Amino acid sequence: MVERPIVVVLAAGQSTRMKSRLSKVLHPVGGLPVLGHILTTALSLEPQKIIVVHGPEGAEVAEFAKNYSDKIVCCEQVDRLGTAHAALMAEKEIGDSDAPILVMLGDAPLVEATQLKESLQKITEGAGMCVIGFEAHNPHGYGRMVMDGERLVSIVEEKDTNDDNKKITFCNSGVMAFDGAHFIKILKQIGNDNAQKEYYLPDAVIECQKNGLDVVTTSAAEEAFLGINDRTQLAAAEAIFQKRKRLEIMQQGVTIVAPDTVFFAYDTCIGQDSYIEPHVVFGTGVKIGENVKILAHSHIEQASIGDKSNIGPFARLRPGTELGAGVKVGNFVETKKAQVHAGAKINHLSYIGDAEVGEKANIGAGTITCNYDGFNKHKTLIGKEAFIGSNSSLVAPVEIEEGAYVGSGSVITKKVPKNALAFTRASFRVVEGWAERFRKKFSK
Ligand code: UD1
Ligand code: CA
Repeated sequence: MVERPIVVVLAAGQSTRMKSRLSKVLHPVGGLPVLGHILTTALSLEPQKIIVVHGPEGAEVAEFAKNYSDKIVCCEQVDRLGTAHAALMAEKEIGDSDAPILVMLGDAPLVEATQLKESLQKITEGAGMCVIGFEAHNPHGYGRMVMDGERLVSIVEEKDTNDDNKKITFCNSGVMAFDGAHFIKILKQIGNDNAQKEYYLPDAVIECQKNGLDVVTTSAAEEAFLGINDRTQLAAAEAIFQKRKRLEIMQQGVTIVAPDTVFFAYDTCIGQDSYIEPHVVFGTGVKIGENVKILAHSHIEQASIGDKSNIGPFARLRPGTELGAGVKVGNFVETKKAQVHAGAKINHLSYIGDAEVGEKANIGAGTITCNYDGFNKHKTLIGKEAFIGSNSSLVAPVEIEEGAYVGSGSVITKKVPKNALAFTRASFRVVEGWAERFRKKFSK
């Protein structure tokens, strides 16, 4: 049995290379802030607690972390003196617990639980410290792991490398597990005699050895340890996230015709035998049933879609859209805060916002719910099996009752009673020969 760890997440860095007013750990990957990915993975280890170390301008980081789970506590690193100094800020929160400690970096969102468990297992087996290393395609910027056979001798930071160890490609992922009985003592022994005059957490390797503690390594593929320091790395992390999520969704029995063109959010849920055409984008909060077809170029966020529905091509489902089973939403239709019941059809060129559409209602091409008067939003109610003729404007607040018909081209401003017909067009008139007379008058 692995003892439940305490996780320390370092997120107090200055995000200089990101060139952003927002902390790098709050930039989204798959719609979830980088830090959220790390906290989700850390929580899956069932830790005793998670301590997030944030910087002096880290109020937003702290707020996000505290709201994420009641297992999360925050502490501040006022002066940013390096990663070992940041880890030491957790001392008070760790208290006199000697549970294993797992240190994670707040800017590496792609780490997986299996890698973390493996490294904690080494502590259970008696190691004083375990470092996860990876073979870097391009090691520039990472701490190099200086090995003597199987033994990790030290970790050299980029700015402290010489010509020899610059060439090392086995790098420090930044994820480290420690025997909790020695963690704080080791941190306090780390000095700052290096190029950046910082207290480096990787120097714990040397301090552990000085104290006769075993230092071991594990390794995993590079992809999981990508650190987000700038916008190109943010895009690279997004690409890896998308690759993983597409795979996960296909493994759940969903067809994605052209996976590289479809973008998911971290929480996208899609039922079995659904079918996704190319160039579809899912924002956060999307839940889709089984046997649903999403046709090309659709954009969906904060929406739920019932079984056997057909969406798109070129449909836009905005927040608060709830579609029942067997609903059809066709090309160039936009929905927002719309509850559309089973079997209803909105097939072409419509805007349905702040509305409820009853079962099997048919909304003709070009129907618009006029929901906004410049100050307030108002609701449109469309009853079961109602039929809205094409090119109608429904001026909210308004209700079309069950089974009623609205003639094409109408502007509806009052309630249409059950099973009635309402239309507001000018009456039809034919003036025989008018066009001919008109042309004669003006042609020479
Ligand atoms: C760090 C490691 C490096 C490793 C790499 C992996 C150190 C000294 N270097 O380098 O060996 O290969 O990660 O991505 O640990 N932070 C604080 N307080 C500080 C400084 C940093 O909380 O005073 C936080 C940052 O917010 C960040 C994390 O620690 O989330 C890592 O800091 P960063 O400056 O990104 O370190 P790297 O240069 O990437
Ligand atoms: Ca980094």
